[in-house]
Amino acid sequence: MCCVLRMEYVYATRNTQHAITMFEFRYLQPYDAEAAADIHIEGQPGTVLTLLGHRFLVELYRAVAGSEWGAGIGVFEDGTLVAQTAMAVSSKKFFTEFKRKYLWRIAIPVAWAIVCRPQIISHIIKGWSYADQTSSPEREGDVIFLGVKKSHLRSGLGPELVNYMFGWADSIGLVSANLMIEKRNRPIRWMIGRLNDLRIAHEFEAYGRQMLFYKVPIHANLQEAKLPHGEPFCPAHNYHLSQSGKMV
Ligand SMILES: CC(C)(COP(=O)(O)OP(=O)(O)OC[C@H]1O[C@@H](n2cnc3c(N)ncnc32)[C@H](O)[C@@H]1OP(=O)(O)O)[C@@H](O)C(=O)NCCC(=O)NCCS
Repeated sequence: MCCVLRMEYVYATRNTQHAITMFEFRYLQPYDAEAAADIHIEGQPGTVLTLLGHRFLVELYRAVAGSEWGAGIGVFEDGTLVAQTAMAVSSKKFFTEFKRKYLWRIAIPVAWAIVCRPQIISHIIKGWSYADQTSSPEREGDVIFLGVKKSHLRSGLGPELVNYMFGWADSIGLVSANLMIEKRNRPIRWMIGRLNDLRIAHEFEAYGRQMLFYKVPIHANLQEAKLPHGEPFCPAHNYHLSQSGKMV
């Protein structure tokens, strides 16, 4: 019985190097923020969020785990985080809350990043209105990051993490997962290229890079969907219920 229960939330990769390794997929907690920031920095070198530094990213991931408007899912191998994704259930609400609640914690890391690289200041000003760039309406979640540790790439963890993200997103009534991706980032484009009915909503330049904004419908991609293990530190907003508690 115990083994059966465990198999519900663990996953063995297809790669021979990790063939006998079992992975647990669970919600990120605030104490996972340091490890989540490390994976972000490794996976997205040179991007604005990474240039804002480790301290900034730790606060961002703490906020993701602790907000009604965000959530993260991690893949753990023997308790070590090896892949993670973070999503804003509503970018507008999440980033408004992040700026309000975390400003005093991120002010020094951001100021230091600007001292080290003054050229990023224009990107920071643009990034300050991230929600305006995505313009995702309610019920459309924005993927802030999805990445796998270098040591675990090409093991099938990325696509499986997407299955968990979609299972969770559907459970709270999201209809679309939106991803802002750099055009030259081929691995992620190849990976999501397999999903059903995805479309490029727009192409634009941001942070000095050519970006694509993908929208992936959740309903069309639930064949392999699963729910992460454990409980989120702060449950995400549930769009199934209206304010009066009625199903909508
Ligand atoms: C994108 C990313 C998450 C993919 O994760 P992954 O676990 O390595 O994904 P997989 O390779 O198992 O993905 C499945 C498919 O995507 C394609 N793919 C992924 N990386 C590829 C690469 N470098 N070359 C060719 N195809 C690739 C393949 O079709 C692959 O299937 P296959 O292995 O059966 O051929 C990973 O490359 C990553 O963490 N990148 C850095 C972070 C990042 O840029 N994130 C996106 C922006 S938020």
